[in-house]
Amino acid sequence: MACVIIVGTQWGDEGKGKIVDLLTERADAVVRYQGGNNAGHTVMFGQDTFVLHLLPSGILRKTISILGNGVVVDLAELIKEINELEQMDIAVANYLHISDRAQLVMPWHKTFDRLREEQKGRNKIGTTGRGIGPAYEDKVGRSGIRVGDLLETEQFKNRLAEIVAEKNKLLASYFKADEPPFSAADIFSEFEAYLNILRPYIRDTPLLVNQLIEDDKNILFEGAQGTFLDVDHGTYPFVTSSNTLAGGACAGAGIGPTRITCVLGIVKAYTTRVGSGPFPTELLDNDGELLQSEGHEFGATTGRPRRCGWFDALLVRQAVRLNGITSISLMKLDVLDKFKTLKIAVAYRLSNGEVTEDLPRSLENVTPIYEEMSGWNCKTAGTTSYKQLPTKMLAYLERITELVGAPVAIISTGPKREETIVLNPDQFWF
Ligand code: GDP
Ligand code: IMO
Ligand code: MG
Repeated sequence: MACVIIVGTQWGDEGKGKIVDLLTERADAVVRYQGGNNAGHTVMFGQDTFVLHLLPSGILRKTISILGNGVVVDLAELIKEINELEQMDIAVANYLHISDRAQLVMPWHKTFDRLREEQKGRNKIGTTGRGIGPAYEDKVGRSGIRVGDLLETEQFKNRLAEIVAEKNKLLASYFKADEPPFSAADIFSEFEAYLNILRPYIRDTPLLVNQLIEDDKNILFEGAQGTFLDVDHGTYPFVTSSNTLAGGACAGAGIGPTRITCVLGIVKAYTTRVGSGPFPTELLDNDGELLQSEGHEFGATTGRPRRCGWFDALLVRQAVRLNGITSISLMKLDVLDKFKTLKIAVAYRLSNGEVTEDLPRSLENVTPIYEEMSGWNCKTAGTTSYKQLPTKMLAYLERITELVGAPVAIISTGPKREETIVLNPDQFWF
């Protein structure tokens, strides 16, 4: 039995989807525990590319796939995703379980996400516009609606009427938006239709996950976003609205910390970020453009170009601590193939001149101090044998391991399943 958490160590898009898919080969279940369809997890095998937003990436391997209570679910988008996969011969119906306690993303959440970003103007967060922030606000503010609430028809109808009245007041008097008000009757019918489709999947998922643990199964917990988008530990306020850290898996799936066997940190060999917020090692020059084009760095959810920069050891070292990472998977090394010189941020100079190796509270106005390493400057894309990796790449890898304080377990040299070197596959499933 093993419970393995897969977590992003930077600002998301590290390659979590690829690794979850890879490790699902030996998993009995995969659980999403936070976030919603703001995530975009890419999995490539054969001639196909899949981008999963809500469904756990394990679904592609026809494995029990669970949307935990910590997830916020947009039912319309979920149904769309299920239909798309079924058209590609993935029989989602046989494997999916949705927590009755997961919160719903309601129409006003998406509207308010958009209106709030418009109001903020230049100071916008650059959200994915999927209503994620407002949905979590309502969860914590105790005005949310849970998947299971749909099963109590009369109660749902009454609660919906109350909430819609409040949201319409907000729309008209706070946002002063020139938009039609929300209609409780229309939303009720819309959600009744969703319930008719999804009813068979709704259950007590914490019970299911704990039963799987008791039966000695191997379970993967698929994190979304990344450590520095965490609402407590990220670059606040430029963060998402959930706890993206490994710790979030316990509350978001309904298991105790004593059940976790290991935490695999997914690390991009450089750094990217989508949306606004500080990014000390960002490159606005030719090197940044080369990372962007070689890495095809466009958001898997919104299609926005991702900002690119050098590897930041302060970030990933902090991620190792915050998540209790036991080993890392180093992704997209092949993207660095064309670089003659590589840089790694090993410290920051603060605005008062002080130098720190520990991540400060604010990443605004810090200047990275770089260590330079010689690039391997040859093609490694698609390499599957450790012995074939150039010594300069191994030196880069070793330096990263030393700086972040966690061993490398997986090396990724391309987007496809097979373009991977797993150093010790048994370590995850002991
Ligand atoms: P996630 O959100 O963490 O699952 O990552 P995304 O799917 O948003 O972004 C990662 C992107 O990098 C996807 O397009 C993957 O197909 C791709 N990718 C993953 N690993 C590698 C790799 O080792 N090399 C290259 N070139 N691409 C990779
Ligand atoms: P995966 O799981 C990268 C970013 C948005 C924005 C901020 C808040 O694919 O790694 P939100 O819509 O969550 O309120 O937006 O968080 N963001 C992501 N960036 N990868 C993601 O997910 C992200 N999910 C949200 O760009 O800056
Ligand atoms: Mg992504």
